[in-house]
Amino acid sequence: MTVRNPAAAWSLAADASRRIGRAVEYHLEIGSTNDRARGALAEPNGEGLAVVADLQTAGRGRQGRGWLSPPGVNLMCSIGLRPHIPASQAGLLGLATAVAALDACRPWALLQIRWPNDLVASDGSKVAGLLIETALDGERISAAVLGIGVNVNWRRADMPAGIAETATSLQDLAGESVDRVALLARLLAALDDEVTRLESGSSPVERYRAASWLDGRQAHIDLGDRRLDGVVAGIADDGSLLVDGPGGRVALSHGEVVRVDPTRVPAGVEVAS
Ligand code: BTN
Repeated sequence: MTVRNPAAAWSLAADASRRIGRAVEYHLEIGSTNDRARGALAEPNGEGLAVVADLQTAGRGRQGRGWLSPPGVNLMCSIGLRPHIPASQAGLLGLATAVAALDACRPWALLQIRWPNDLVASDGSKVAGLLIETALDGERISAAVLGIGVNVNWRRADMPAGIAETATSLQDLAGESVDRVALLARLLAALDDEVTRLESGSSPVERYRAASWLDGRQAHIDLGDRRLDGVVAGIADDGSLLVDGPGGRVALSHGEVVRVDPTRVPAGVEVAS
């Protein structure tokens, strides 16, 4: 079946029986899908609506960065939620989203997660990023927006310098173009599953740990007011990064990995010579 109307094509990823992704709202162009998903939360049936766009004119990344994508080749999607988890578990929502996105990409590439929630290829090249925005009301999360950007059919050869050095795409890894609607359908199903599990008290941390790319690597981490150099020891139960630094082991709940030593790799990983 050929569907020429893009809104109708993207709607094929929806499943009315689910909470996340019960409907898909397509935009040819939008500022940021995260803003629209947050706005939709104030509308009847806005929770779980998947907002997708072919182009974002003000796409946002983490740490105040932008998110750049040419039109019509990648997946840019946001979902607004009122999750039934305590504010203390807000970090686990990011882990659950990362695990779901990883699972969604599996038919095309076996990715790993670089803390806190970048999806990367085995050489550390970034394929996807997540922007999780939460609003707290005392001890509970009053609203959350799960924003997911995946480099799908944006070939590294077409990326601008500055991005091409550190990024790749599913198409590059799979060796063929990837059906974005099929990817979205998998993503929404996996997200619905992970969020349901989290709400029923089951943590995604074991699945996250199994995919953690940083373990055993020497990392340089920007903590805002200072930098920490150390070897990554793993992921704590609350999703914090465990780092063995000069002063002993620390658990980082936030921060940005700015560099990873390419010469120090975990056991079992081969380095090209
Ligand atoms: C990052 O790696 O810094 C996070 C990038 C998140 C990008 C996605 S694209 C869909 C959604 N809308 C946005 O404005 N940002 C997220």
